[in-house]
Amino acid sequence: MRLGVNIDHVATLRNARGTDYPDLLEAANIVLRAGADGITVHLREDRRHIKDKDLKILLQNISRPINLEIAPTNEMISIAIKHKPHACCLVPEKRRELTTEGGLDLLKLESRLCPKIKKLQDAGIKVSLFINPDFSQIEAASRTGSSAVELHTGSYSDCNNSKRKKEYKRILDAAKFSKQFKIECHAGHGLTHNNVAPIAKISEITELNIGHSLISESIFIGLKESVKRMKDLIQSCGRKNYKK
Ligand code: PXP
Repeated sequence: MRLGVNIDHVATLRNARGTDYPDLLEAANIVLRAGADGITVHLREDRRHIKDKDLKILLQNISRPINLEIAPTNEMISIAIKHKPHACCLVPEKRRELTTEGGLDLLKLESRLCPKIKKLQDAGIKVSLFINPDFSQIEAASRTGSSAVELHTGSYSDCNNSKRKKEYKRILDAAKFSKQFKIECHAGHGLTHNNVAPIAKISEITELNIGHSLISESIFIGLKESVKRMKDLIQSCGRKNYKK
């Protein structure tokens, strides 16, 4: 099982103030030193997370696999071919959505996607398709010649306890079904420390991509240390502690 860590929200935080920190490359290096197997980033049409320059810097400085999530538009396919990441995950993208809502509908898109997938593969890029955990989507993905599917785990992650079993079974069945085809099975979206274990136990799944919950939790793991360092620094300037 490989873990790809999505660092988009480090860029979201940086972009909120237009500063040059937190630095994306530093984040990628920390993530890799902590044991992640690769870095995932989503270059969105509106560039709300990473920018084109970030992609260039990451690709020039990171030797581990970079999985670039893109919408299958001509612009994004050209950018991917120019920069040649290790892998591209094709995702649906709506401008107003908060995050990637649902998977690609391959039953509608299959014939339009095939030439784009071939272009990426001819450039030496592995292609995965982000789909809902449905048999018909997996069958369609296998017809496109993509090397992997990534099952959208959002419905499993976001549902309440009463629906969890059913949503889990959808992912389990889809992962097992994908075994019949020569296609790798990845999964991701909404996974957290609390809900990842059942998914991680599915032996047919070979890669997980996780972002938002890790970046969120890292704030709490690091906030105490960050405030303490600031306090120490202020005191080292000869300032005494404030007494009520
Ligand atoms: N996989 C894909 C294809 C995604 O679009 C995303 C979100 O960008 C993720 C995985 C990671 O989801 P999350 O940030 O909820 O962990």
